[in-house]
Amino acid sequence: MPEPLLQAVAISKAFSGVRALRDVSFDLFAGEVHAIVGENGAGKSTLIKIMTGAVAPDSGTLVVGGRSVPRMDPALSRSLGIAAIYQQPSLFPHLTVAENLAFALEGVARWRRVNWSARRKRAAELLDRVGAALHPDRLVETLSMPEQQLLEIAKAVGGAARVLIMDEPTASLSEREVDRLFRLVERLRSDGLGLIYISHRLEEVQAIAGRVTVLRDGESVATRSRDGLSRSDLIQLMTGRELSDIFPKKAVTPGDVALELRDVSCRAAGIRNVSIALRRGEILGLAGLVGSGRTELAGTMYGLTPADAGEVLLDGRRVDITSPARAIALGIDYVPEDRRRHGVVLEMAIPANVTLASLHLVSRAGFIDRDAEHATASRYVDALRVKAASLDDPVESLSGGNQQKVALARALAANPTVLILDEPTQGVDVGSKSEIHALMQSLVERGLAILMISSELPEILGMSDRIAVMRGGTIAGVLSRAEATQQSLLALALGHA
Ligand SMILES: Nc1ncnc2c1ncn2[C@@H]1O[C@H](COP(=O)(O)OP(=O)(O)OP(=O)(O)O)[C@@H](O)[C@H]1O
Ligand SMILES: [Mg+2]
Repeated sequence: MPEPLLQAVAISKAFSGVRALRDVSFDLFAGEVHAIVGENGAGKSTLIKIMTGAVAPDSGTLVVGGRSVPRMDPALSRSLGIAAIYQQPSLFPHLTVAENLAFALEGVARWRRVNWSARRKRAAELLDRVGAALHPDRLVETLSMPEQQLLEIAKAVGGAARVLIMDEPTASLSEREVDRLFRLVERLRSDGLGLIYISHRLEEVQAIAGRVTVLRDGESVATRSRDGLSRSDLIQLMTGRELSDIFPKKAVTPGDVALELRDVSCRAAGIRNVSIALRRGEILGLAGLVGSGRTELAGTMYGLTPADAGEVLLDGRRVDITSPARAIALGIDYVPEDRRRHGVVLEMAIPANVTLASLHLVSRAGFIDRDAEHATASRYVDALRVKAASLDDPVESLSGGNQQKVALARALAANPTVLILDEPTQGVDVGSKSEIHALMQSLVERGLAILMISSELPEILGMSDRIAVMRGGTIAGVLSRAEATQQSLLALALGHA
């Protein structure tokens, strides 16, 4: 048996008395992809932060290449060949691709001794190795999310990483980009790297992992070879229960048109001539490739980038949605894709976040009624199964998926008529995902209108009554639930229809 590249032995970690990991052991060999799965808050990110030295364990040992490392820190972890790619890339937006690579690989001290033509050449070589068609002189702020990820991987490969950790790398990638990433993962694996892969998309885990470790409530419940491990086995291990009905969508008789856009354009957002109607009781899916304008259209409907041409009608009356405050007052709420930046206030506790858009409901004579605020928050925390040690914890101490649930709770507490959800289950575990779907179903049964943006085709096809497909800032076509298939949808998105 060869020696593992990396071993975590009996790791435990608690945050202010709350256990995040207990006695977790994990190992990784050269030439393997080892996935870590588990529900939101199970401890996945904490475990990898311990490996990269970002978080110190309370007890347990890390062994790298056979040598025990008593005190890991980020610089040591990097010099031992451990690189991590997080969902949010850590790049300098105002520097070029080559500058970012040079900066990362040479460090601050040597960075200023310039030999830019050599650096550009080295950058080009590295980008080529990871299959990235990026010009070294491009500014990072002009790169798309998948391009930034490729650059992160080039950084890791250039830094001679032997262990590459990816924490939910595909959350914002389209299917085609996911395919490209997987081919790269396979190539790095066959070059002898060890890869740790964290994802809530179990089909991805089954497609690329050789072994899977399942965490539940901070404990490792199993490490299994992929062979013979079914999706339902994984769910059973993660949640301790069976889970059927992934998409609980039932037909609801649609009511009146709640929100209608007539020939709406917004030059700043790149939106042109959009006409759609959203009915009460309906889930309208908004599909399209990354960059097709879905999030931008949501921004226009929510008043972030108000329309500069066309008409918006709410319950048949013309409205001007000039700001998010105006949208909320009109009963339109939005849960953005980038919840960590716009959906929640990280420093504030859960109740304050949940009632952020509905202060009038928990205020009396201008004062916030703390009991009402707490009661509202705990109702949503229960309904959405937000995992938190205490309601009074700041949202930043929650795991990624749980932060997203708080953002959703905030929008629901405002009791909107029209709810725009941008990637509502991104980064959310399977159990909570089906709970969010069930919740969406019950909301439309009560007469809400939901616009759901999703890059996950099964989710779009499974949950939508109708699907509007965007391309180039406008609606390329609208499909009924019966007409919509993966092919018909992609054909519209790609302009092959
Ligand atoms: N800095 C922190 N302070 C307090 N608690 C924390 C901190 N970081 C993590 N936790 C807690 O540790 C537990 C594990 O969180 P972790 O981020 O590892 O979960 P995860 O498995 O990555 O979840 P997700 O799938 O939602 O990303 C959670 O209960 C979380 O609230
Ligand atoms: Mg996490």
